[in-house]
Amino acid sequence: MTVSLNDIRSTFLGYFEKNGHEVVPSAPLVPRNDPTLMFTNSGMVPFKNLFTGIEHRDYTRATSCQKCVRAGGKHNDLDNVGYTARHHTFFEMLGNFSFGDYFKEDAIPLAWDLITKEFGIPKDKLYVTVYHTDDEAAAIWKKHAGLPDERIIRIATDDNFWMMGPTGPCGPSSEIFYDHGDHIWGGPPGSPEQDGDRFIEIWNLVFMQYEQFEDGTRRPLPKPSIDTGMGLERFGATMMGSHDNYATDVMRDLIEASAHATGVDPYGPQNVHHRVIADHLRSTSFLISDGVLPSNEGRGYVLRRIMRRAMRHAHLLGAKDPVMWKLVPVLVRQMGQAYPELARAQKLVEETLRLEETRFKQTLDRGLSLLDAELATLEEGAELPGETAFRLYDTYGFPLDLTQDALRERGRAVNVAGFEAAMAEQRAKARAAWAGSGEQADAAIWYDIAEAEGVTEFLGYDTEKAEGQLVAIIKDGKEASAAVAGDAVELVFNQTPFYAESGGQVGDSGMIRTETGLVTITDTRKTAGVFRHIGTVTEGEIETGAAAQLEVDHARRSAIRANHSATHLLHEALRQALGEHVAQRGSLNAEDRLRFDFSHTKAMTPAELQRVEAEVNAYIRQNTPVETRIMTPEDARALGAQALFGEKYGDEVRVVSMGAQDGSGKGADGRTYSLELCGGTHVRQTGDIGLFVTLSESASAAGVRRIEALTGEAAQAYLAQQDATLAQVAGVLKTQRADVVDRVKALLDERKALQNELADLRRQLALSGGGKSEAAGPETVAGVPFVGQTLQGVSGKDLRGLIDAQKERVGSGVILLIADAGGKAAIAAGVTDDLVARFSAVDMVRVAAEAMGGKGGGGRADMAQGGAPDAGRADAALDAVRGLIAG
Ligand code: ALA
Repeated sequence: MTVSLNDIRSTFLGYFEKNGHEVVPSAPLVPRNDPTLMFTNSGMVPFKNLFTGIEHRDYTRATSCQKCVRAGGKHNDLDNVGYTARHHTFFEMLGNFSFGDYFKEDAIPLAWDLITKEFGIPKDKLYVTVYHTDDEAAAIWKKHAGLPDERIIRIATDDNFWMMGPTGPCGPSSEIFYDHGDHIWGGPPGSPEQDGDRFIEIWNLVFMQYEQFEDGTRRPLPKPSIDTGMGLERFGATMMGSHDNYATDVMRDLIEASAHATGVDPYGPQNVHHRVIADHLRSTSFLISDGVLPSNEGRGYVLRRIMRRAMRHAHLLGAKDPVMWKLVPVLVRQMGQAYPELARAQKLVEETLRLEETRFKQTLDRGLSLLDAELATLEEGAELPGETAFRLYDTYGFPLDLTQDALRERGRAVNVAGFEAAMAEQRAKARAAWAGSGEQADAAIWYDIAEAEGVTEFLGYDTEKAEGQLVAIIKDGKEASAAVAGDAVELVFNQTPFYAESGGQVGDSGMIRTETGLVTITDTRKTAGVFRHIGTVTEGEIETGAAAQLEVDHARRSAIRANHSATHLLHEALRQALGEHVAQRGSLNAEDRLRFDFSHTKAMTPAELQRVEAEVNAYIRQNTPVETRIMTPEDARALGAQALFGEKYGDEVRVVSMGAQDGSGKGADGRTYSLELCGGTHVRQTGDIGLFVTLSESASAAGVRRIEALTGEAAQAYLAQQDATLAQVAGVLKTQRADVVDRVKALLDERKALQNELADLRRQLALSGGGKSEAAGPETVAGVPFVGQTLQGVSGKDLRGLIDAQKERVGSGVILLIADAGGKAAIAAGVTDDLVARFSAVDMVRVAAEAMGGKGGGGRADMAQGGAPDAGRADAALDAVRGLIAG
């Protein structure tokens, strides 16, 4: 029969939908709700909290086709893939679920009718198993399916008691088996020949009844529930009359694509390599499209191991050039419709694969020849020494399982203990090197944690909420096993959505909840790869080992994200407006503002600033997706990515691109607007930034300018505030906002005219003797006419003109004018020509100045000027001059 996996998937989901089940899309491969799982490895994982009653949704029956990966962690099938008929790193699990709704009496008939009626599998091909004590299930099978007793097999082992993992929901199960016929070796379940390929399990029905805890105890679930799992590939193979999952349409297509790309017969002796490639291509592509990227830690490392394993098999097929990436379109054609995230990530998947393959190829040849040389020196069948495996790992990037896989064909093994010893020795060396590097002693604790627990896995590019396992509590600078309300703590989890401060982006804040306590996190930092969640226990108590719900403050993170993405656009806009010399010199991406320092020697003109602001806003409105890729620093630079000058980058960098120069909405083709190396978190689409407003442009250091700016809500609030101020000004001026500038100009002109008028009037007043002086009028001192005046509101520079005017007025005499300018004295003295032989204006100024605490002044005998600090002593100055005239 020709059936496609796509048809089976939709028949299955459609059947349960007809039977009142909600069709729930597959959850991501990185579990959002379970810190103990590396990857989603069965259909029930996303529903875990519905079984235990922690979470409620508006449906109690669901059906799904869940993407699963079993590689790394507890369920690890990696080593067997390719060599067996049914192992995969990636597979799809079909299932139906009841959360306290129906139980066995409905689950069994639902399953039976689907496979016998909808899929038309003959009843005489089917066997079932039940847990040995489950009489109830056995009775339902007998009654509903009419199966004879010998086809209802009781099993006493764990095979019929399903557990999610060491903890979590569990219960007895009942499995349906398909008999492929006596031409294939094998026996029914429970028989000594059960491991043969004749009787294959096609569906597992779990009667969820308990929750298992870490201490081994079990608690009944709030309500009995149902969890079933049917491997799509395995069922598909059965429907196609085969017990080999690789005979299904999707796998055949991929195997044939691999054969086409390498020119090697798909079903000949090299078939195993094609199978490995086909399987690994699926896990790799789906992991990348769910946000996992190759790295040397955690999930990223498992991905890398899968990729490298596939690449070695491509190498064994004699492939000279990267192969895997070429197969991606075939996979997307097959599965992109059911999993749109795969189609969306196609480019990223292709690029990541191509990069990894290109780089690994260079070391693969050398590593493999080293391996061969080493094997040649060993005795027949001897183990490969652990140090050699470690050298392959350390120098050539051969994960241990890759070396094991390579040896498998030669019937050899690796001395794993030796490998681990070599690994431990290297860690100890790294630590010693660090201890000698003079870093602060209080950092030691973080290195200890990094060593004991591994570095923290960051999930925050894809999610703001996740579960993590509390692996360490630091209180008063020391590790503690618990903390209570009121304690200031730093917490470490195995994984976290919290971003730790770096690259100018501030650390996240938020809440962390365990079953027994609540912690408010105010900041997140990292040391030695360990994320430190800094905060205070606000309720109850917390203990290490607990599972915790970590939730980032969403509003704050969104604002930070917008500011960070805007900084990238700003950087590029500055380069466009000012030139290529503009380089980032520092930045701050906080929740309330952004700051960007860049190299540029002079102040920006208002026109330049306006252009930059307008350009940033234009790219915000363009609303193109922000893309993230991983590449080598060299490739990134070749693409034109902006990197921090002098910064050290690792083997691989994260490249964030946004905006399309031709407005097409497509980046990543050399016409991308902004391209930067960056580890921060960003908006999904540039439109999410909302709005960009600069607050200031100023000097920050020699040759470095600083721009401060706002985005989104803060920018809008700022503009509203500016506008309100303008409205207020217009109100005070009794005019419209649009007329404010003219009105202010007119007022300033008016003010200037009034000032001039006032000065004139003051001068006239002074001349008319109306100044505030006790010696206002001409007096006679020892027969000489003397005008002595202290003037207010007259400036020093007006005094000269006033002396001339007074000279004219008195005809003959001595004049001394003191202007009180805010407490300081400006002094001017004049002597009419007829008296210059007797008196010197210079002397007059000197004595007057001295009387007011000054030193004198300068000028000529008929006219001199000076100043003194204390105008309050003007009377004494006038007296001193009188004394001088009187001789
Ligand atoms: N959760 C069950 C399984 O994975 C159905 O087999």
